[in-house]
Amino acid sequence: MDKIKNLYDKLKAISQEHVLKYYDELKEEERQLLLNQLSRIDFDLLRQCNILLKKSDGSGHYIPGTLEPMKVVTLPKTESEKKEYEKAFNIGEKLISEGKVGSILVAGGQGTRLGFDGPKGTFPVGPITDRSLFQYHTEKILAREKKLNAAIPFYIMTSELNYLQTKDFFKQHRYFKKEKDSFVFFAQGMLPALSAEGKMYLSDKFKISVAPDGHGGLLRALFVNRLLDDMQKRGVEYLYYFQVDSPLANVCDPAFIGYHVLKNAEMSAKTVYKRGPYESLGNIGKVNGKNVVIEYSELTRKEMEERNPDGRLRFGQGSIGIHVFSVNFFRRLHDKKQDLPYHIAHKRIPYIDAAGNLVQPVEPNGYKFEQFIFDAFPFAKKIMVFETDRKKDFSPIKNKDGFDSPQTARQDLCNQFGNWLGKAGFHVKRDSNGNVLDKIEISPLFALDEKEFHNRKPKPNGNKDGYLFE
Ligand code: UTP
Repeated sequence: MDKIKNLYDKLKAISQEHVLKYYDELKEEERQLLLNQLSRIDFDLLRQCNILLKKSDGSGHYIPGTLEPMKVVTLPKTESEKKEYEKAFNIGEKLISEGKVGSILVAGGQGTRLGFDGPKGTFPVGPITDRSLFQYHTEKILAREKKLNAAIPFYIMTSELNYLQTKDFFKQHRYFKKEKDSFVFFAQGMLPALSAEGKMYLSDKFKISVAPDGHGGLLRALFVNRLLDDMQKRGVEYLYYFQVDSPLANVCDPAFIGYHVLKNAEMSAKTVYKRGPYESLGNIGKVNGKNVVIEYSELTRKEMEERNPDGRLRFGQGSIGIHVFSVNFFRRLHDKKQDLPYHIAHKRIPYIDAAGNLVQPVEPNGYKFEQFIFDAFPFAKKIMVFETDRKKDFSPIKNKDGFDSPQTARQDLCNQFGNWLGKAGFHVKRDSNGNVLDKIEISPLFALDEKEFHNRKPKPNGNKDGYLFE
């Protein structure tokens, strides 16, 4: 009983004692769940979040100063650029074959916009076989392992909410034939959501409402789970970081890894050239000499529309959440106990009212706190920005329908595969916008790119379902 009294006093001192309101009426098992959850909350961090909330004017994170664009390795056009690209590609492949590259997938998001029941990585996206996002990503890594006779560890970050489901999914699918021991699953931290008054919410009488701490929570999760030691043991020196939602992602792209090393970078970022001045992708640039990513919403209209003498947008490079990190960079951040800043998001937080009933708010009523991985940029001694071809790397599934949805991702997959088939002499049907009308699916294990596909000398195998190459 003393233990509860102490806890109550501790919570009262920070005006959070309301979370014990129903304690007396809880079953023993529920009490334990609540106490367990409370024991895992970092109250010092909660205090910092509250300070941030009080200071915030609701406009989000803002870095004052003038933004200057970064130097970018653009898509190779001239002969010398093509030569350098090839050199970088070969360096990347060599590093992979030496076992110095690991892959790291952040899959802890809640995917609220998609509204899919289950981890987003389990979403079926293959145009014919319903191949999941997780399967695509794993098979791409496996295909590179096979091609280069290498081992590529696969680190997968989940949240506490989807950890077990994610692990089970891989187990159920026998790790998509990739070596089981090459997988490392780990969960990122969770943070309580707060009301405007800085109070935690209860989502049940014995449950505090918590949310994953953002993709930047990776840093903390790597440290807490001692994963830098695991990387050292496996001989991993570089990490290919990517997000779960793009089935087009060119995972472990050797050229990107090669340029990271050629340019002596500690952290690198892939970008695509924006569709237009207002596409909402983050902008990588320098502010007061520091490398930063600035949210789209933080650019002025003038900055968005500004053009270089060649007609290209001055801030035309949008970050797509794909990075290469040197493990030594993470090690240095760890040794310095470097944390990343928190960003505040105004969100709808379900909660139980005074009568104990669950309320699903229709408007944002509270605040979540998240860290973003790109906030590591200012700490890197050198960064490298690398433009990629959107059609070969980036078609994220974010929304239920409309743009960046399952429908656009499937179309982009069919368009990419249609190009490969077209070059290999197949007749591919297209609409007036050039979109491929046939359903086409090519397993990464059959071919990773157009050249590999061509070399396999594929035979026409179309039927009413489309073309499938496994
Ligand atoms: P998003 O910013 O798209 O967020 O994540 P989300 O949670 O998946 O989707 P919404 O906003 O709720 O609709 C980009 C990437 O970062 C990962 C996601 O899983 C995705 O791969 N992420 C995001 C995490 O790993 N943890 C987080 O806390 C947030």
